[in-house]
Amino acid sequence: MTTEPKRIVILISGRGSNMGALISATLDPAYPARIVGVISNKADATGLKAAEDFGIATQVISHKDYDDRASHDEAISAAIEQMNADFICLAGYMRLLTAAFVSRWQGKLLNIHPALLPSFKGIDTHARALSAGVRVHGATVHFVTEDMDDGPIIAQGAVPVGLKDTEATLADRVLEVEHRLYPLALRLVAEGKVTMRDGTTLYSNMNESDEKALLLPVGRSRETSDQP
Ligand code: GRF
Repeated sequence: MTTEPKRIVILISGRGSNMGALISATLDPAYPARIVGVISNKADATGLKAAEDFGIATQVISHKDYDDRASHDEAISAAIEQMNADFICLAGYMRLLTAAFVSRWQGKLLNIHPALLPSFKGIDTHARALSAGVRVHGATVHFVTEDMDDGPIIAQGAVPVGLKDTEATLADRVLEVEHRLYPLALRLVAEGKVTMRDGTTLYSNMNESDEKALLLPVGRSRETSDQP
């Protein structure tokens, strides 16, 4: 039985490198999802041009054009509904979402955060990880709930922290992991193997290779770590 690929809308605010990684992954005809639109709250987000270069429909819905967060989120929700989206991926979307928006898209809304949650929620994660002296840092893909960076975890990528690491070197290595992790996590969600129920992540029909996508391990190279 063949099922239609899931329809994904990506929300960005800037560079959009994770968006690019998701788009690239979905170009594979075997991937179970397609990106049907990219929405930015900022007109100058560089990711918009990258999405257009891939032939993906983009929209700018600027928060500056709305009186409050609720009406801005409602406009975004309406645009997402119009695109018949099955799932929404936040990829560097730098706005807090209202409870109404999160509840409307509950279980359909994913985010990638540049730290191993529940540590280092919020911004400046790499600097804070260095100050704290953690030896393992990384990235997390999770379902979005009302509280920021707090929803049920889907998958994580771990990055060792070296003594010579700076915020920039660490950020580069975490970003590389993010670009591998997000498409792997979205695949499992699009296939219906990972769902959110009662505030937790449920895994079903997972094979060995699916389970490997849930933790990208420390110290393995890009060439070897995505494959079983
Ligand atoms: C990424 O580090 C992501 O984890 C965080 O914001 C950054 C966005 O980068 N939420 P990009 O726009 O995807 O390049």
